[in-house]
Amino acid sequence: MATKKTRASAESVEIIEGPVVRFAHQSEEDFARILDFYGIAWKYEPRTFPLKWDGERIAEAFTPDFYLPDIDTYIELTTLRQPLMTEKHRKIRTLRELYPDVEIKLLNKRDYLRLLAKYGFGPPTPKSIEGIHRVLVSQAQLRRRVSELGAQISKDYAGSPGEGLVLVGVLKGVACFMADLMRRISLPVAIDFMAISSYDSTEAGNVRILKDLDESIEGRDVLIVEDIVDTGMTLNHLLAYLKAREPSSLKVCTLLDKRARRLVDVPLDYVGFEIPDEFVIGYGLDFRQLYRNLDFIATLKPEWMEASAAQQGKQSPK
Ligand code: IMP
Repeated sequence: MATKKTRASAESVEIIEGPVVRFAHQSEEDFARILDFYGIAWKYEPRTFPLKWDGERIAEAFTPDFYLPDIDTYIELTTLRQPLMTEKHRKIRTLRELYPDVEIKLLNKRDYLRLLAKYGFGPPTPKSIEGIHRVLVSQAQLRRRVSELGAQISKDYAGSPGEGLVLVGVLKGVACFMADLMRRISLPVAIDFMAISSYDSTEAGNVRILKDLDESIEGRDVLIVEDIVDTGMTLNHLLAYLKAREPSSLKVCTLLDKRARRLVDVPLDYVGFEIPDEFVIGYGLDFRQLYRNLDFIATLKPEWMEASAAQQGKQSPK
């Protein structure tokens, strides 16, 4: 896990903090994602074992790729071809002789592919999804920024005289952002969701509420949580609608701001990222209801979107 890892046992939960990891190979990153997906704690290249000395100087050393603290085992991942494998086997043999207490396992390409097959190839990555053009915001950037927003919101609302903070999300695009943001706010918060009809040329200027709030927001501090503000039409309508319910305060937090496309000037109190005028998907945002499950934000290849739209008719944005 690149930024934060939770290891749960019957009695305690231990949080292991760590820096963002730069992997040497894609296969290592894929392996780390599988471990993350299944909540297995890991460290990347945490220890180098000297294998040969020339006087005081270390003449040869070996750094296994991963350490899995829960089973006290090092893992060396290798997708190398046979001649290089022989060299690696030799090093691992030496390591075992010199450090008999150290448990190390070598995963060769076949073992690795079997593992991938067994665990369903892990979560989607930019390379594993057809049609991805380029990643605009990576998983690490999202995590970092959402944490910063959560910290800022916690600070701003601490000691607020209102009757408590309510986060109001607009379905479905906000699902990922809401889930992550609320867990980064260190105050007691309530959440509520609304659903709004997508833009439809037959109903121009007519935004319909498909699902209203479950609870009253009168006298509460309300923070609208949006996935993306594009033209600003949806948010403008929502602000007017919620203001009429007399909250104690009403602010907006959006993950993405596509400012270049703005038609209505809407106030944004918290913005995750300003992005260029491109159609984006992932982390809740969809194209034809797909791609919401990606853990990053990306653009699609234009030819892919055209082909897909031609096949299935019109896109619904929400
Ligand atoms: P508006 O134009 O600001 O009213 O944006 C309304 C909604 O359109 C957003 O909440 C999104 O659900 C959707 N939307 C706008 N731009 C994009 C995009 O680039 N990708 C996916 N959905 C988008």
